[in-house]
Amino acid sequence: MRYYDFLNPSVNFMGPGCVKVLGERCKLLNMHKPLIVTDEFLAKLENGPVAQSVASLEAAGLEYVIFTGAEPNPKVQNCYDGLALYKEHNCDSIITVGGGSAHDCGKGVGIAATHEKHLTEYAGIEKLENPLPPLIAVNTTAGTASEVTRHAVLTNLDTKLKFVIVSWRNVPLVSFNDPMMMLGIPAGLTAATGMDALTHAVETYVSVDANPVTDAVAMQAIKLCANNLRQAVANGQDVKARENMAYASLLAGMAFNNGNLGYVHAMAHQLGGQYDLPHGVANAMLLPVVEEYNIISNPQRFADIAEFMGEKIEGLSVMDAAQKAIDAMRRLATDIGIPTSLKEMGVKEEDFDLMATNALLDGNAGSNPRKGTKQDIINLFKKAY
Ligand SMILES: [Fe+2]
Repeated sequence: MRYYDFLNPSVNFMGPGCVKVLGERCKLLNMHKPLIVTDEFLAKLENGPVAQSVASLEAAGLEYVIFTGAEPNPKVQNCYDGLALYKEHNCDSIITVGGGSAHDCGKGVGIAATHEKHLTEYAGIEKLENPLPPLIAVNTTAGTASEVTRHAVLTNLDTKLKFVIVSWRNVPLVSFNDPMMMLGIPAGLTAATGMDALTHAVETYVSVDANPVTDAVAMQAIKLCANNLRQAVANGQDVKARENMAYASLLAGMAFNNGNLGYVHAMAHQLGGQYDLPHGVANAMLLPVVEEYNIISNPQRFADIAEFMGEKIEGLSVMDAAQKAIDAMRRLATDIGIPTSLKEMGVKEEDFDLMATNALLDGNAGSNPRKGTKQDIINLFKKAY
């Protein structure tokens, strides 16, 4: 017997044009001078996500300060740089504008603003002692879903390790998923982030912490990815495909925020920390390999996934139907141009030992449905090599 909790922002704005109400929502939350945490590229984009967010703040008569130092795989130092600006301008709240890097960096700024110890000291589960400043997340990629989650994934450059601060206090108060902000994303990034969303949904659906609520959102996310990711990659201006991928990402985020992930993420985090490999690409390359290994833990769950992904499974044994899910994942990744081997991404075999050790220590490893040894993880890295 066990019980579950379900965390999510209290308000989630979705659909084309929703960012227009950002300023009004800030006022409702008594946010007077937010620090906008974003990156250089988005900040410079004409009529881009930052410009649109700022327009809404100005229409509501709000002051703001822009911090453009959220790097990919955000570093601890990025958070402290943001904090310095936050303090210098007496900001009272945070708005993150971007994908996972901006949201995670903004959460790091928020944690640093209300906690004494170094950020690395809060790695792990529920170590935060105080609330963060009010935080709104404006999401611009359909993938990481950090705009709804309790995770802040940061990189410690001293150890080259990614670490995760997991706490209910990290969940943004409000999330925005406006697909009109996603139209300009290049095909490669659309593919990588979309595969990240699919990985969230699949890993949660087979996780040992899955429950009927996370099953419902994971199932819908898998269907939306299978039916819309190719189209969004093929034509970034396809608003319907973008909107459906934004929903897929949001639903997958609601799933893994509560039902947890598995070895794909545990292993992908090592590739991100060690080689700065894009998170979505690392996941996409590992997903079929890890899930094929996981099948025997619960074949029926994988047969379900095959069906969600549109595979014909009638008349097949459960094991054959389960295998169809793996085929569907491989086909999707190939169709959208995901690289197929870790070798071509510059990964080195001699690092597998250390990465396998660290993957088993990663917070996501515990909810993987099949319990592996270090040698199993090394073998999985080899299979993806
Ligand atoms: Fe992810």
